[in-house]
Amino acid sequence: MKVLVVGGGGREHAIIKKIKQNPRVEKIYALSGNGGIAIDAECVNIGAKDIDGIVEFALKNEVDYAIVAPDDPLVLGAVDALEDKGIACFGPRANAAVIEGSKAFAKNLMKKYGIPTAGYEVFDSMDDALAYAEKSPLPVVIKADGLALGKGVIIAQSREEAVSAVKSMMMDKVFGKSGDYVVIEEFMTGPEVSVLAFTDGKTIVPMISSMDHKRAGDGDVGLNTGGMGTVAPNPYYTEEIAKICMERIFEPTVRAMNAEGRKFKGCLYFGLMITPDGPKVVEYNCRFGDPETQVVLPLLKTDLLDIMRAVTEERLSDIKVEFENKHACCVIMASEGYPSDYDKGYAIKYPKELETKIFFAGAARKDGELVTNGGRVLGVTAIADSLQSAIDAAYADVERIEFDNAYYRKDIGKRALLATEVK
Ligand code: AMP
Ligand code: GLY
Repeated sequence: MKVLVVGGGGREHAIIKKIKQNPRVEKIYALSGNGGIAIDAECVNIGAKDIDGIVEFALKNEVDYAIVAPDDPLVLGAVDALEDKGIACFGPRANAAVIEGSKAFAKNLMKKYGIPTAGYEVFDSMDDALAYAEKSPLPVVIKADGLALGKGVIIAQSREEAVSAVKSMMMDKVFGKSGDYVVIEEFMTGPEVSVLAFTDGKTIVPMISSMDHKRAGDGDVGLNTGGMGTVAPNPYYTEEIAKICMERIFEPTVRAMNAEGRKFKGCLYFGLMITPDGPKVVEYNCRFGDPETQVVLPLLKTDLLDIMRAVTEERLSDIKVEFENKHACCVIMASEGYPSDYDKGYAIKYPKELETKIFFAGAARKDGELVTNGGRVLGVTAIADSLQSAIDAAYADVERIEFDNAYYRKDIGKRALLATEVK
């Protein structure tokens, strides 16, 4: 079987490593992959947003199955384009990917179907948005409607900040068309949990829960990043919370999408906050999370490709999806300066035996040598019987990986550990 994976980050590397375990897989293409992914797949220089290029490549190379991992191609209709040419895919079609592509759509969906989320208003007029921002309680959360590389959310602590956030999105268009609409919402409090779930539009199967660490600095300070590390499972996601989420959030979301004529098939990501009033949705993503995938998939016992194909063929209820009863910790090693400016091109060195545990993101080949080529360079994931051992093992591995200007948080998993101790 020939499998194509669209994307080129740590998440895609984790998917590829898992898919490779299926004995029927003879070839994996990564479009465009990266210099580190090249260890496990054939990387082809076709960008994730080049839908025509992806379809043409898939047809020419007789690809049997395509996995579209990033948000952009999903929202742009990569799955529609591939399926229309007869190529089986994992991922939602564009009319369902809108659940991530438009925050206004997602919020209106939740309101219509009674799915718990923060109170909000959607604006297409800057004057109305400014008037609302002037009177809403602080802090207030301002979100650009469309995709904004995870940077389109501003938690304004003051009126000035709120006003300047609205203006930067709606007047200065810092996120382009993504700021044509803004969502202004109530600020929620409580621990955050990420839950990725397989769904074929009929059945929904949540994967093991996880916790992201989005801020750049130790103690959750500094700028928002794409994610500096993850642990799984998330101790705040108790069995009781899981049951509530299934009944009030996961199943209702699948039903709501069907009722709207937007059947969602693929991985649906629930960004949840466990508020004093119970779990609420912070955001939906139409795809696997990054770096959540780097802790969730290594714990998956069931064959990933078998699950994915069952999703495509709408027979997910036939599959028993099982996870190891263990803990995983992924520490992201970034380039010093990320998420702002950073240098690249530094040689990456690591002992060969770590290769199976490293998921490359911003890495490239230069004269045959692996070098840094992005903000988040790689993630290293360790699995152990306890959270503490997983954290210790991940940091022991980090110590053995070297590149100039490496930066990583020293406290991945710390908050999760504290939560375990309190209980
Ligand atoms: P998002 O891109 O929607 O996931 O938002 C990024 C981060 O902003 C989330 O992970 C939360 O930490 C925070 N956030 C978003 N919406 C809210 C909200 N309504 N209340 C509190 N924090 C929020
Ligand atoms: N880790 C958050 C995301 O993938 O959007």
